[in-house]
Amino acid sequence: MPGGVDLETGVRGRLRPRSWVFKLSSVRRDDGGGFTVTSERTIDTSYDPFAQEPEYLEVNRQFVDTLPLPAAKTVLDLACGTCVLGGMMRERTEGPLRLVGLDLSRESLTLAWGHLGVESDEVGTLLLEGSADTLPIADDSVDGVVMGNAIQLLDDKESLVSEVARVLVPGGFFAFNTSFYSGTYLPGTERLYVDWVQRALEELMERGTREGFRRKKGKGRRAISQRWLSREEYQQLLERFGFEIATVHERTVDLTKHSFETIGAYSGCASVVLSGWPVALASEALQRAAGPALEAAGVEVVPRQWLEMIAFRS
Ligand SMILES: C[S@@+](CC[C@H](N)C(=O)[O-])C[C@H]1O[C@@H](n2cnc3c(N)ncnc32)[C@H](O)[C@@H]1O
Repeated sequence: MPGGVDLETGVRGRLRPRSWVFKLSSVRRDDGGGFTVTSERTIDTSYDPFAQEPEYLEVNRQFVDTLPLPAAKTVLDLACGTCVLGGMMRERTEGPLRLVGLDLSRESLTLAWGHLGVESDEVGTLLLEGSADTLPIADDSVDGVVMGNAIQLLDDKESLVSEVARVLVPGGFFAFNTSFYSGTYLPGTERLYVDWVQRALEELMERGTREGFRRKKGKGRRAISQRWLSREEYQQLLERFGFEIATVHERTVDLTKHSFETIGAYSGCASVVLSGWPVALASEALQRAAGPALEAAGVEVVPRQWLEMIAFRS
């Protein structure tokens, strides 16, 4: 039967209407080359709006170009968001590539569904709502796991890497990139970020006084609890779970005023750097503060480092 996977029966076929994408399911690869899906539950979260920025697309395209895709038949795009990386991997692969995308955010998965053109898919694409540290996927199921700019968001990175190792076939690859690690700021640029957040905070406090709202302690994730790991710490983490590091690379990306505005608008960013404030207002304030912060620093672009790592499961 041509097409994707019927999530109800696990039989290969045309994908079901969009709402089916949002079931968190247990999935395993079956002998017929499709997927078998069992239990289900749902989780909710928010959309990632900055994934279409030219700088973002370019750094990810360059990253995807380095992946060992030719040997891969099934790839998991972990914390896939709108599946930008998944789409790029499919474009780069000559043969059929089965793609599984998994994310906490239902909204992002909706966009991924449209972005990938899943309904006309002839290979097999599965989008799952779930958490990257408890994968609803059978052992030794996928040839590659790719995680774009999300590894820093996982509080329990040990569980994450252990799960990735479990679902990978022996010799399978785990590749991730991140722009949130110790080393991401080039010397002299950190001040600008502090100024940006400070300006947004001042606006929020003024607005709060005027409109009668204030910061709620204990709301949102505290930025301080998200200690960024260094490249060496990521290497050690992967090695502890039996991975052999193949490449470690750092790429410089020039962020523009528009990049800062779209990153600020992302509620996942605003809820961390301005935790406790109403997220929509925090996003707005960060967006507005971007221009003045760059202007005050006298720069039009801010270079930032992206870390990329590719490792193989031994
Ligand atoms: C910055 S976005 C990156 C999205 C995508 N990988 C990309 O490169 O465009 C981070 C994504 O991680 C997702 N996320 C955060 N914590 C997660 C978790 N524990 N499990 C799965 N996804 C998670 C968010 O919902 C969001 O879509």
